Amino acid sequence: MTLLIQHGELVSDGRRWKADLLIEGEIISAIGDHLDVPADARIIDASGKYVFPGFIDPHVHIHLPFMGTFAKDTHETGSKAALIGGTTTFIEMLAPAGSEALEAGWKTWSGMAEGHSASDYSFHIGVTRWDDETEATLRDLVAQGMKSFKVFLAYKGAFGIDDHALYQVCKLAKELGVIVTAHCENADLVAELQQKLLAEGKTGPQWHEKSRPEAVEAEGTAHFATFLELTGARGYVVHLSNGRALEAALEAKERGVDLEIEVVIPHLLLDKSLTERPDGAKYVMSPPLRDRSNHRPLWEALERGQIDTVATDHCPFDLSQKAMGEGNFTRIPNGIPAIEDRVNLLYTYGVSRGHLTLERFVDAASTRAAQIFGLYPRKGTLSVGSDADLVIYDPQYRGKISAETSHMNNDYSGFEGWEIDGRPEVVTVRGEVAVENGQFVGTVGRGQLLRR
Ligand code: URP
Ligand code: ZN
Ligand code: ZN
Repeated sequence: MTLLIQHGELVSDGRRWKADLLIEGEIISAIGDHLDVPADARIIDASGKYVFPGFIDPHVHIHLPFMGTFAKDTHETGSKAALIGGTTTFIEMLAPAGSEALEAGWKTWSGMAEGHSASDYSFHIGVTRWDDETEATLRDLVAQGMKSFKVFLAYKGAFGIDDHALYQVCKLAKELGVIVTAHCENADLVAELQQKLLAEGKTGPQWHEKSRPEAVEAEGTAHFATFLELTGARGYVVHLSNGRALEAALEAKERGVDLEIEVVIPHLLLDKSLTERPDGAKYVMSPPLRDRSNHRPLWEALERGQIDTVATDHCPFDLSQKAMGEGNFTRIPNGIPAIEDRVNLLYTYGVSRGHLTLERFVDAASTRAAQIFGLYPRKGTLSVGSDADLVIYDPQYRGKISAETSHMNNDYSGFEGWEIDGRPEVVTVRGEVAVENGQFVGTVGRGQLLRR
């Protein structure tokens, strides 16, 4: 397939410029003014549109056994929704239960994705216990190109690991030159506070935030940073949610800890007052939605580039699953779906409302993730020789988010009724048009596992 994208405004690698872009096969083969039209080319007129590199979501859950149930998307539904929303690559968290061998977990997760995803994908390798067998599997998976680990400092008794395991993971990551991504909440403090609140009869979803307050996350962030400092490993804090945790992360960076920071779209836009509503369980995730006063420091740090990436932490549970926690907030499955909406929300409430430049938007939602996780310059850039993953974005489109029109496999949206000021009109994955007029037209199963 040869595609010529004409008259669009390209945005990539910190600049924006008008140019044509030629795709031959799976690759961008030329970028320039008034490119010749090959005889077999399909021409797409991108006048008045932006041309972005395909967006990358570095933190999603598709297959996830969690809190007595399973996240609801399949790789087919999740990847279609991702593409409609402009995300051409996602990195999923492989998270075997602590009782499961990592190798078995890898077979389960990679087997579920293979042949079922329409977008490209990769995995962070979750380390949920430490022993010789786990270490051997980690070495093997890194050799196969899975070059990031994931640890949970939270979720005692499920995915959570202790400090011995954390030290060993960081030490191995340093030796192998891979990055450690971490959910930073102190699990023991959470467990104590949960029991205290329940004993006081505080059982509704509005108490979830009180059981894991900002201090618990700031402590977890500083704790992780200390392990990075003492092992020399490189780290990445996932879904950092508040100003206090941000201060802890920035303070560690200032003293030389090699640390990158991710925020997720719910923490930039939603707040904890939503959990006080009768349908508050919809908004339970961890770290929790915070007080609104945290939005500003997060947006400012994002614009300055102190926060590197914007992900989703996509983790869909439907209303009947959320109801498992009626009368006990500690049993509400944690997670909010967003894989389809991240790019449109970040564009609308970031770029369109003046919190983010267009260049930084592309950087935070695509390029930085590619750079941090070893996908650049194959992904995350409009460059000759890169994969032809493109988003032709219509900034004139006006719409509203709704569960009824969503392609994620869920029966509610945390962003129901939110206006959006643009949408991906055409999306390509390695040269194939996968979305046209906002509709999925791609190929389920064409998505490739990205070895990094
Ligand atoms: O609430 C969340 N974040 N659910 C998904 C699991 C995790 O902690 O990332
Ligand atoms: Zn997490
Ligand atoms: Zn997550």
